[in-house]
Amino acid sequence: MYDNTRPEVGSEARTLSARHYTAPDYFQQELEKIHYQMWLHAGRVEQLPKVGSYFLIELGMESVIVLRSEDQGLRAFYNVCRHRGTQLCQHASGTLPGKIQCPYHAWTYTFDGRLINAPLMDKTRGFDLRDHSLQPIAIDTWDGHIFINFAPDPSPLLEHLADLPAKFRSWKMEHLRQAAEIVYSIEANWKLVIQNYSECLHCPLLHPQLQQLSHYMSGENDPPRPTYLGGRMDLRDGVETLSQDGISPWATLPGLREYERRGVYYYAILPNLLLNLHPQYMLTFTLWPKACDRTDIVCRWSFHPNELAREGFDPSNAVDFWDLTNRQDWEVSELAQRGISSRAYRPGLYSNREELLSALDRFVVERCGAAD
Ligand code: FES
Ligand SMILES: [Fe+2]
Repeated sequence: MYDNTRPEVGSEARTLSARHYTAPDYFQQELEKIHYQMWLHAGRVEQLPKVGSYFLIELGMESVIVLRSEDQGLRAFYNVCRHRGTQLCQHASGTLPGKIQCPYHAWTYTFDGRLINAPLMDKTRGFDLRDHSLQPIAIDTWDGHIFINFAPDPSPLLEHLADLPAKFRSWKMEHLRQAAEIVYSIEANWKLVIQNYSECLHCPLLHPQLQQLSHYMSGENDPPRPTYLGGRMDLRDGVETLSQDGISPWATLPGLREYERRGVYYYAILPNLLLNLHPQYMLTFTLWPKACDRTDIVCRWSFHPNELAREGFDPSNAVDFWDLTNRQDWEVSELAQRGISSRAYRPGLYSNREELLSALDRFVVERCGAAD
């Protein structure tokens, strides 16, 4: 019932050469030209419930404190003391006691970054507390998602998101609450994770249980955009959601239109958020590149609060389904990393159903240049 009616593609578009996936210097280039320049998904607003709540983001050599300030606003600062550079916070998350104090010589900062105490600096000529605030990082939110940007003067988050806020308004993501989280550490380049997410040719072989719920040829992609790649797939008749048995114990999210209830949306918001919207729940993958051949993936399942409050609420039908699917994806991404690292690897040809993958290649090469 699904024919391959998409237009033919030429043989110019080939997969990237090995160095794009295996060279530490190219990886560093990607961090500089992509990750330190673009809006990055950092987490969810609900992770910062009260004044002083914080979590750390670690990327390359950078560490960032993301916190809720006294005025209830969200702030992000480099985790670097203005005295002699010591890292201020060490624990991945927690609550700060009214201020940020350096563990070395007790320089103390407010939640909006102002230095308010610097012991024994009064005899240092020209020293002024006001000149030594923490260094801020841009932060903004979209429907409950926190984004940060290392660029000194970034363009607005809304520009980055383009038409996605309108497209996904019906899910009212700001109301959803996390029910489960799994952090995966995989031995594959971050681009392989996005590429795997952006095509469904592998589903019949790799994910027989997914293929039973959603036909792999039902995928419809948007044309590639500068800041995101994505599309949707239909649920088969009688299937309510992606779960172990295709049945949903959870109500459909209020406000979804008929068409939105019959599909699953797969969007890669470049460079580090995979947003996966189901009719009853939201799944997000936040990618943290660790090295050219290593990526951490924070996977979160979020549901409507009415469902979470229901007696006997159990997310495992969705969590187990996706944990299995994820492991299948990570395993094959690691195999891809290993094969690409072989001296026998040569760039290969893409099918006409892999247009988002060559778009990702172009996105990377446009920013970082070709690796060889
Ligand atoms: S390095 Fe932070 S107070 Fe000295
Ligand atoms: Fe997959």
